Amino acid sequence: MVKLFRDADELSQYAARAFVETANRSIAERGRFLVALSGGSTPMKLYERLASEPLDWSRVHFFWGDERCVPVDDADNSYGQTKKILFDKIGTTNIHRIESELEPDSAAKEYADTLKVFAEAPFDFPRFDLVLLGMGDDGHTASLFPNSPVDMDSPVVAVTAQYQDRPANRVTLTPLVFNQAREIWFLVTGAGKAETLHNVLKGARNLEKYPAQRIQPVDGKLVWLVDEAAGRLLEAPLVE
Ligand code: 6PG
Repeated sequence: MVKLFRDADELSQYAARAFVETANRSIAERGRFLVALSGGSTPMKLYERLASEPLDWSRVHFFWGDERCVPVDDADNSYGQTKKILFDKIGTTNIHRIESELEPDSAAKEYADTLKVFAEAPFDFPRFDLVLLGMGDDGHTASLFPNSPVDMDSPVVAVTAQYQDRPANRVTLTPLVFNQAREIWFLVTGAGKAETLHNVLKGARNLEKYPAQRIQPVDGKLVWLVDEAAGRLLEAPLVE
């Protein structure tokens, strides 16, 4: 399902409302809301908006789909950036971050152990109520990059990949975990992603070239929240 918005502001406004609705539904049904956040620039507007949303944050548990292996106070650390614009504002302690200061393989192992604490049988990891993902203009998502060898049978792996001038060493969850989520939202904005997005959604299946195509929930909902610039080749109707 693709939802097209005039711009990133309208997209993040819609996403903030939908986030609160999804959270309240999960809290009503399961007593808590387990959400895996994405790094990158696109979700930051959403995180800023969430800081002023009336939600029972004590029932919300934050995880990460991936992280860059740099110190928390580094401008490229996703947890560190989100802490400033969201976590510090809502005063939550339910944050299960990837310990990016550790050696990548150790951080991946630690995070697999963290996920086990929230495991939902038959898995040794949680069924997230919501996963937020972005997409690079090369078709990567989380830290699953084109043509990069990833052990898809492990829930969490360390990877090294070159993308723009961003940190190469990363830890990422794999589709094994993502695809068991109840809801997955891609947030994609900017003209630079239009061609790749068209190929990912309308083109031939090529999982090596377009890792974003690996995200197919087994028993969940997949929604692409896209701005007009990124979705210009999709012929999708605008969400009014
Ligand atoms: C990361 C993300 C990565 C991101 C894309 C898009 O931590 O880098 O998980 O997958 O979502 O690179 O990034 P932008 O939103 O900045 O375009």
